Amino acid sequence: MIGLMRGTLWKRLRSVTILCAIMATMGVVGSEGAVGDGKDETKGASPPRVSEESQKCIDCHRDGEVAPVIVSQWQQSAHARNNVGCYECHKAAKSDSDAFDHYGATISIIVSPKDCGACHAKVVAEFDGSHHAKGGQILGSLDNVLGEVVEGVPAANAGCKQCHGSEVKVIGNGKLDPTTWPNTGIGRLNPDGSKGSCSACHSRHAFSPMLARQPENCGKCHLGPDHPQYEIYNESKHGIAFRAFIHKMNLSSDSWVLGVDYDAAPTCATCHMSATKGLPLTHDIGTRISWNLRPEVSIKLADWEGRRDKMETVCQNCHTSEYVDGFYKQFDDVIELYNEKFAKPAQAVMKKLREAGKINPTPFDEEIEWTYFFLWHHEGRRARHGASMMGPDYTQWHGFYEVAHRFYIEFMPQAEHLLPGVTAEYMNSDFHKWTQGLSPEERERIRKFYQERYGQ
Ligand code: HEC
Ligand code: HEC
Ligand code: HEC
Ligand code: HEC
Ligand code: HEC
Ligand code: HEC
Ligand code: HEC
Ligand code: HEC
Repeated sequence: MIGLMRGTLWKRLRSVTILCAIMATMGVVGSEGAVGDGKDETKGASPPRVSEESQKCIDCHRDGEVAPVIVSQWQQSAHARNNVGCYECHKAAKSDSDAFDHYGATISIIVSPKDCGACHAKVVAEFDGSHHAKGGQILGSLDNVLGEVVEGVPAANAGCKQCHGSEVKVIGNGKLDPTTWPNTGIGRLNPDGSKGSCSACHSRHAFSPMLARQPENCGKCHLGPDHPQYEIYNESKHGIAFRAFIHKMNLSSDSWVLGVDYDAAPTCATCHMSATKGLPLTHDIGTRISWNLRPEVSIKLADWEGRRDKMETVCQNCHTSEYVDGFYKQFDDVIELYNEKFAKPAQAVMKKLREAGKINPTPFDEEIEWTYFFLWHHEGRRARHGASMMGPDYTQWHGFYEVAHRFYIEFMPQAEHLLPGVTAEYMNSDFHKWTQGLSPEERERIRKFYQERYGQ
């Protein structure tokens, strides 16, 4: 039944599209008028002239009702204004593993960073050197065992890999394996060997800079229990100012230099990518950060001072250097506190349990492994990420509060149960001495506080 419906639909489409193609060659649906047919958004210029190859794609896809909106989205783009048509992006060499013949042209569905690089070489080189390009290389990680084994492969295909990127497989004649495609994961492994997906941020076919600059754009991936950067931004004064003054952000401007084209608020792109008076735009999103907050114990990056200088250049458009130094003092203190008080002791305890044979080598089959994962991968990251971007609720209630509860009430007792005495050397440190009892003065202060405030 479904097969039959498909057959009929296909025949209908094919007859319409072929008819259109013939009409186009006969000049019935003028190829001249197709792009600049009065509907396009070219800014007053004469109608753009695309290549002959692209004109065929446009005529058939627009009039043949094969996703015609693709054509109108493209018509509104800078690409259309600069005569970069369908064929210029989708063309492929016959030897490409994902190439196929399509109405006389050799094309591929995927337009990889390598393809964009024919015209945007500098951007592609920056992106290629970034952690984003490496986002698909997660096979060896604990998270991957979680996704592909503990949960299951379909979950990883529609979950992990839609953010990180799949290895897109070709099943023949240009068709892509549907378990690996559609996919715009940031570190997608493309059939041509290149890494990443520009459409992760530059949704096609408008390739709108306005869309790319929005915090929501980064928020597709940077959110949730293990890296809530989007939620943190929304909580921060920066996110508040962005929403209040969005009409002053000049988001659709060609040039978008902080302090020149806008000044109301910073977005994710402002701080991590975009140009300011002293800094060029970069597609390597790691060049302005000094810490890596993702591992169990946070680490400073190579040349962290140089990277931090760059970020400070951004801040100093809107804040004094003293204010910014104060922020970094508070942020660094949080990271040191997390590392020394919780991360290192918990990591050391896990190591001892493993060495003593109290945890087997299989991850996620024992309770303490989940407890530990929650501690560093979820709560510990939230505490650190909150402090890095001015989100106090994520530092405190979604962060350190959860860390403390997990550490004192679950992790340490579970470890003690598995190997009595294993926690002693850590619990006796100054950080954790409080568990041996508050002083009478401190208890009295707390009693008085509630007495005075609530009469209880
Ligand atoms: C005569 C009509 C016609 C012309 C010309 C044409 N297409 Fe298509 N195109 C179609 C139809 C019909 C489909 C959907 C069926 C299919 O997969 O073949 C399609 C599908 C596609 C797909 C998606 C394939 C998939 O499996 O998802 C891409 C990409 C594409 N076309 C790009 C182009 C480009 C680029 C050009 C110009 C070089 C072009 N088309 C020219 C009719 C046409
Ligand atoms: C600036 C480069 C660029 C131009 C110009 C361009 N495309 Fe695409 N197209 C892409 C990218 C990128 C994708 C998504 C695939 C990917 O992520 O690699 C895509 C995907 C597609 C798809 C398959 C996806 C879907 O949603 O079904 C079709 C069909 C398609 N393009 C047709 C066209 C047509 C028709 C034109 C001309 C009107 C065109 N493209 C112009 C870059 C381009
Ligand atoms: C054939 C050359 C060519 C290819 C291939 C190409 N572009 Fe472009 N692109 C241009 C030109 C020309 C412009 C307009 C001038 C400029 O801004 O540099 C442009 C502009 C852009 C802009 C700025 C848009 C704006 O409105 O200011 C983005 C974003 C962009 N391209 C992304 C891409 C991506 C992503 C790909 C691959 C999927 C791609 N381009 C492939 C030539 C190309
Ligand atoms: C909603 C999008 C999203 C999903 C779904 C997702 N991740 Fe991530 N993942 C991210 C982002 C964003 C980061 C980086 C966070 C940061 O820098 O703070 C990340 C970080 C990681 C890291 C750390 C990389 C490093 O360099 O330290 C690994 C490993 C990882 N993810 C694997 C996975 C696996 C496996 C799954 C599925 C079980 C998964 N992720 C699901 C977005 C996602
Ligand atoms: C992490 C999101 C992200 C990814 C991935 C990304 N871009 Fe961009 N890109 C942006 C943002 C945001 C801007 C606008 C920055 C601005 O104007 O300050 C931009 C701007 C651009 C511009 C306009 C540059 C200019 O000088 O005006 C081009 C061209 C471009 N990107 C191409 C690409 C290509 C090609 C890729 C793939 C290799 C890519 N981008 C991947 C976010 C991204
Ligand atoms: C006001 C500037 C600013 C804004 C706005 C901003 N960030 Fe950040 N971001 C920072 C600073 C500062 C750090 C920590 C830098 C360091 O390590 O020295 C950081 C760190 C990060 C990290 C690294 C986390 C890790 O695990 O190591 C990611 C990812 C990130 N930001 C993503 C985002 C996203 C996504 C948004 C928007 C939703 C955003 N940022 C908005 C300034 C900003
Ligand atoms: C499609 C998903 C996706 C989108 C969209 C995305 N990111 Fe990421 N981002 C990731 C993943 C995954 C990682 C971790 C990569 C790794 O370490 O393997 C990451 C890492 C980062 C890092 C840490 C880089 C480093 O060198 O350690 C920063 C900063 C960042 N992203 C900022 C941004 C900003 C800003 C945007 C929006 C302009 C954005 N991202 C959009 C998935 C995404
Ligand atoms: C485009 C201007 C702009 C940039 C760039 C910017 N900020 Fe801000 N920042 C603001 C505004 C506006 C506020 C809100 C001021 C207020 O409420 O009085 C703010 C508030 C703050 C606050 C106070 C937070 C609070 O909850 O009271 C801190 C801390 C801060 N910024 C640090 C930074 C740091 C660090 C950077 C660089 C990583 C940075 N800002 C980049 C505009 C900016």
